[in-house]
Amino acid sequence: MALETRNANKPQVSIIIPTYNESQNILNVLKSIGDIIPKNIFTEAIVVDDNSPDGTGKIVEDYLKNVKKIAGYTVNVIHRTAKNGLSSAILSGIQRATGDTIVVMDSDLSHPPQIIPKMIETLRHYQCDMVVASRYITGGKINGWNKKRKLLSKIATMIAKKGLGVKTNDPMSGFFAFRKGILKGLNFDAIGYKILLEILVKKRGLDIKEIPYTFQNRTLGSSKLDFPIIIDYVKSVWKLYRSGKPEENNEKRKSVKFFSKAGRFYTIGATGFAINYIISLMFSGGLTEIWYLHANILGIITSMTSNFVLNKWWTFGDRDFSFKKTISQFSKFIMFSSFGALIQLGVVFSLVDNYDWMYTTALGVGVLTGAFSNFILNKKWTFKD
Ligand code: GDD
Repeated sequence: MALETRNANKPQVSIIIPTYNESQNILNVLKSIGDIIPKNIFTEAIVVDDNSPDGTGKIVEDYLKNVKKIAGYTVNVIHRTAKNGLSSAILSGIQRATGDTIVVMDSDLSHPPQIIPKMIETLRHYQCDMVVASRYITGGKINGWNKKRKLLSKIATMIAKKGLGVKTNDPMSGFFAFRKGILKGLNFDAIGYKILLEILVKKRGLDIKEIPYTFQNRTLGSSKLDFPIIIDYVKSVWKLYRSGKPEENNEKRKSVKFFSKAGRFYTIGATGFAINYIISLMFSGGLTEIWYLHANILGIITSMTSNFVLNKWWTFGDRDFSFKKTISQFSKFIMFSSFGALIQLGVVFSLVDNYDWMYTTALGVGVLTGAFSNFILNKKWTFKD
């Protein structure tokens, strides 16, 4: 549904705004965009609503019927039938977009629309492929997030950069602009929230500029980023990791070698998982009763050691157990695995303490998440081959 068409030309810029239960925010966002878009650039906003129970979609429809038209600015709504995730909502919007330039942003004013003209200008001035609004470069910052959320974002960013080799400083950003043409030939998995990350990994070598901005946490409504979204992130990083490597190597022999090593690493990971799980359970009640997080730490230490020895010997065929080399490798292994352990502890604690999950289930999820990060980090640095 068109709010207005300033001329017969198609819009040059399409702004994709996914919404789920944003009845308190969406009109403010649409109005702010109307206020700031450059008048010489014909712009369309596309709201992609997933049948929000709070009536967001209907609110936008009513707004379109009643609002005074703004020159050079149209608004459209896509109504999807169910909550199918942020990434897939963004893709639906992009498919419908008629502009050559696409801007993606949240609908809760955490992404200031005032930055949009600068994003478009940067894209044009530098003739680059993409502009990412970044919180993690000089001049960028985050307002209103608690320490836990900040840490989570930093960890996710680090995993993307180190594990997937992404160079962009804020690959978790949900605020970015790009030339639509760069998506040509791309097949998306569209898992969870991380559509930008998927583009960055699947389209290496894009010319990208980053501009700083202040992420202002929403004041109305609530975030939809919950634990399943975090699991989705882990899944999507893993998928991207698996799909990226063979492309990079591009040699059959290398890729076969890679997969056999990955297979061994994961077999050992599974034994580590079993050891970790059993030891943690034994010490938190089975054998003797200590505080469940202490039991969890014992499980982590035992599985770290067995994983190290088995990976060195079997996965990488390294039979050189000379003191100096082994200690150096073991230190790296412990360092990276400790990071995985921190993730595990954080997940277990958060699930038990914040979400009242049963410890046994939380432990299973925590161990799996920690094991995943162990693999990525240690494969890359400790046992580099
Ligand atoms: N259509 C649709 N369907 N929209 C969704 C869905 C969905 O399943 N899930 C979330 N959204 C919309 C929300 O309504 C909001 O406009 C936007 O997507 C972001 O969701 P939030 O739940 O508010 O995200 P956040 O603020 O916690 O996370 C922000 O920071 C992340 C970086 O750490 C967002 O900017 C993310 O995009 C960003 O990756």
